[in-house]
Amino acid sequence: MNKKNLLISILILGGFILLISALHFLTPVDSVILHQIYQRLYYIPIILAAFWYGWRGGLGAALLASVSYLPHIALHWQHQNYEYALNQYAEITLFFVIGAVTGWLGDQKRREYERAERINTELQTAYTELRQTVSQLLQAERLSSLAEIASSVVHEVRNPLGAIKGAVEILEDELAPDSPRREFANIAKTEVERIDKLVKEFLQFARAPKPDRALVNPNELVKSVKLLIEQQAEKQSVLIEESLLNPSSSLMLDAEQIKQVLLNLGINALQTMPTGGTLIFRTLEEENRLSIEVEDTGGGIDEKNISRIFNPFFTTKEKSFGLGLSIAYKIVGEHNGKLTARNGTQGAIFRLEFEVRR
Ligand SMILES: Nc1ncnc2c1ncn2[C@@H]1O[C@H](COP(=O)(O)OP(=O)(O)OP(=O)(O)O)[C@@H](O)[C@H]1O
Ligand SMILES: [Mg+2]
Repeated sequence: MNKKNLLISILILGGFILLISALHFLTPVDSVILHQIYQRLYYIPIILAAFWYGWRGGLGAALLASVSYLPHIALHWQHQNYEYALNQYAEITLFFVIGAVTGWLGDQKRREYERAERINTELQTAYTELRQTVSQLLQAERLSSLAEIASSVVHEVRNPLGAIKGAVEILEDELAPDSPRREFANIAKTEVERIDKLVKEFLQFARAPKPDRALVNPNELVKSVKLLIEQQAEKQSVLIEESLLNPSSSLMLDAEQIKQVLLNLGINALQTMPTGGTLIFRTLEEENRLSIEVEDTGGGIDEKNISRIFNPFFTTKEKSFGLGLSIAYKIVGEHNGKLTARNGTQGAIFRLEFEVRR
């Protein structure tokens, strides 16, 4: 209860008690029935005060009732009807008993209620945390199986590639030095090497090696990613905007990996704006958290897909693997950060959030 309400309720209860006492004073002593009714009316404010403010409230109200009622007993009844006056004094004792007992019960109830409320809040927090952990575990599980699939596929592909390369080299040896077929052998070798490199990179990508951390200014990361996508953005008439604050501290990050994440987000954003729009990079600082946001004006993520976009192989594009965001999620997770997505007014907003250690 705030202070204003407290004051109002005290004034009302106090006023009620004083009103009852005034009625006692104003009613002639021969209307005994009325006096008996008034005397019981005191219990209403006493019980209410005890209920609202505990035993202190109950005793306070009982005290006010007795102080304002006593003069009436002493002046009007004591001489006329001594026995009745004694009865009134006993009733006053009862005011205190009722006030204290009801107050004590009220206090007990309030404490139980507060305890239940506290437990409820704790349970709710635990439940939310549990749900988050479960979803992170599921995501991690999916990603680790992705890494396993990737490494076995890569293994299967690289072995025959090695054999092909060896066979081409043997065939090449048998060719005359000026044979025009040497060029085909060269093409075969370079293509095999290209596939080998691609497959190797894919494995590295899917496995997301442990971050090699160093102090970095997030604004620098944004700037270098901007350089990488500037040309493509210009081709699509996409304007790149920056809203960068001067962070009060740097972050311990693997710069290359986080650039990779930002690049993935930047490319996704560009892909949603083939005929123009705005791509905004933003850095934000809240308490002990530093965030980098990537926002586009490409229409946003379909609400029904928003919970699935970080899953490996989830894509809505025809010629894509659907790996970009799942890998980005994994990298940010390895940095103990959070990658989240939401829809803004005109497009999607992706946020990388890291804790700053000072
Ligand atoms: N900026 C965005 N706006 C709207 N939807 C997006 C955005 N970024 C990602 N998405 C949705 O999330 C899906 C998954 O993105 P992700 O980057 O993982 O895969 P992809 O871009 O489809 O393929 P890949 O990145 O492997 O080439 C996309 O297919 C798209 O539906
Ligand atoms: Mg992508």
